[in-house]
Amino acid sequence: MYQKWISFGVVILYVCNSVVSLENGLARTPPMGWLAWERFRCNTDCKNDPDNCISERLFKTMTDIIVSEGYLNAGYEYINVDDCWLEKDRNTFGQLVADRQRFPSGIKSLSDYVHSKGMKFGIYQDFGNYTCAGYPGILGYLETDANTFAAWDVDYVKLDGCYSHPSDMDSGYPEFGFYLNQTGRPMLYSCSWPVYQIYAGMQPNYTAIVHHCNMWRNFDDIQDSWASVESIIDYYGNNQDVIVPNAGPGHWNDPDMLIIGNFGLSYEQSKTQMAIWAILAAPLLMSVDLRTIRPEYKAILQNKRIIAVDQDPLGIQGRRIYKHKGIEIWSRPITPLYQNYFSYAVVFVNRRTDGTPSDVAVTLKELGLASPTGYRVEDLYEDVDYGILTPQTKIKVKVNPSGVVILRADVQPDFNRRVPFYTTQRTPYNPLNQVFRLRSNDF
Ligand code: GAL
Repeated sequence: MYQKWISFGVVILYVCNSVVSLENGLARTPPMGWLAWERFRCNTDCKNDPDNCISERLFKTMTDIIVSEGYLNAGYEYINVDDCWLEKDRNTFGQLVADRQRFPSGIKSLSDYVHSKGMKFGIYQDFGNYTCAGYPGILGYLETDANTFAAWDVDYVKLDGCYSHPSDMDSGYPEFGFYLNQTGRPMLYSCSWPVYQIYAGMQPNYTAIVHHCNMWRNFDDIQDSWASVESIIDYYGNNQDVIVPNAGPGHWNDPDMLIIGNFGLSYEQSKTQMAIWAILAAPLLMSVDLRTIRPEYKAILQNKRIIAVDQDPLGIQGRRIYKHKGIEIWSRPITPLYQNYFSYAVVFVNRRTDGTPSDVAVTLKELGLASPTGYRVEDLYEDVDYGILTPQTKIKVKVNPSGVVILRADVQPDFNRRVPFYTTQRTPYNPLNQVFRLRSNDF
């Protein structure tokens, strides 16, 4: 009898635990991949536009390019279907069916294809009666649909929130997460729970959201324009006190897709999106036609040093630390740490529209970089190594209109100890010698 109570207790604990916390072990760093929506929308016209319609062909083509063109090596591992993949009706067992014309081989076959190329496969659904584009939603079929996704070997589920009541989401999103967990297949869970509640004038319960979702949308859909990117940057800056503490390994704020390489952003603006998304510890989901992307945009998306900032294992989301007369400074604590000092990624943004680069001069200390052992500073877009700088050093950067300068400052171990680390270091190149006030005892 006593034995029975113990195992009953264990079961209760297990069930409670899986209800209160997603903990599926996924997304220890922000997810990276490709997502169809921003660029390909709900184009279902495969007759007239076979190359661009939402179809298994499009996803297979993008998978091939992600692998062959180095995106997978750079970290982009998910290939994600968005809205408009479904038939308008479920089958006689109540299960979801992919559009028979556009996905003739079915989703399991597409997912197998993606896996055979070493990538992971994501799908889209909606907590309401319909998806945003009017296809069947999961309401009334939560368990069935979670099981279907597991049977299709899905790795990632984006659950949208059209055609549902935002007040039902506090129970509905956790319930679907519970069914996902119950399948035993780890599936990354991307939620739109907070954004719909914010639209409805509610205050999202981020404690619950963090527990149940691997990532979540806080704000508007990104559109193909600089104005849209700016509005997202402002939202995350203006609401950072509420938003930033919720990010961490396993759970991320999602400012929406990268639109780099499309029609709406200049080269400078594209560099800005990539740099700010890295500061935000954002999921990096490209939504672009990889068949036609120009090399300079591909280089931004594949910038390994900026990706490393985004993927920093501490998972601390960065903040806007300065905003004045169109100049912003954003910074994010990253690894390595030395004693109690973090390293940092720092982004200088020029939001001004007068068409000449702006100078920004600031000491490391003013940026909050105070370790007496100093920092090794490098530019992550330009090949500039500033060498090792003390907190008192004034750095001066030129920031192009609607562009950025992004620096990485790695805290140095104690100079006096002369640890072997230094012997492997490149000779510091200091292009701005005149503005640095390096003390003689620094070296
Ligand atoms: C929106 C969502 C977009 C996209 C679209 C599909 O609500 O935020 O990212 O998924 O629905 O209809």
